[in-house]
Amino acid sequence: MAPAQDLLSHPPRLPMIFPSILGADFGHMADGCADVLELGAEALHVDVMDGHFVPNLTMGPKMVADLRRAFPDVFLDVHLMVTNPENFVEPFAKAGADCLSFHIEVTAGRAEHDEQDLIRRIRGAGCAVGIVINPPTPADAVFHVLESVDMVLVMSVNPGFSGQSFIPDVLDKTRAIGSRLPQTVRLQMDGGIGLQTVQACRDAGCDTIVAASALFGAEDRKAVMQALRGHG
Ligand code: DX5
Ligand code: ZN
Repeated sequence: MAPAQDLLSHPPRLPMIFPSILGADFGHMADGCADVLELGAEALHVDVMDGHFVPNLTMGPKMVADLRRAFPDVFLDVHLMVTNPENFVEPFAKAGADCLSFHIEVTAGRAEHDEQDLIRRIRGAGCAVGIVINPPTPADAVFHVLESVDMVLVMSVNPGFSGQSFIPDVLDKTRAIGSRLPQTVRLQMDGGIGLQTVQACRDAGCDTIVAASALFGAEDRKAVMQALRGHG
């Protein structure tokens, strides 16, 4: 297996599938993660919600630390849906996160240097950097950071809960972002992705697919995993 830090810059195959552990049974978290990893998932996507930026609470650094201990070599992709991402860079990096993604909606109202500071701080903590854009936010909100990040995450639901319906309006925006993206930067999509919607994501240029309910809730996870990749 390639070193975890290299995963985003040297993807083994496209699209990569990052199961969101929000869809797992929290009472049997390690078993659920082991299952999707055995089926070939390239990473685990960890949804961190603070009850402020989004109307829900989920998990914190301890989950990442425990996952890191249980799965020493697995890429841990942490999606920060929090109002103060700067407060959580060090705790999540120390816990073993490989990538920290923060929302452009959080930094948009701040001074320009603040955003680049946060990107530098995440890199300084040893993590890759993702920038996230919500469905109502126009594409040009992230244009100025495309050269500074390792991944752009286009949300295809309004964040807060798994199991919501895919918002197809984001596909045009995804193409607009993708056409400006340096080749080494991954384009991720998250929210409402399943058998009916994944083809549209891939067609829009996404090379990293996040799925919670479609995968963890499936009776045949292997078949869903293959279908998410476009096989079968
Ligand atoms: C939504 C989260 C997603 C969510 C996806 O706020 O960021 O990662 O878990 O869940 P599904 O795939 O069920 O829409
Ligand atoms: Zn997410």
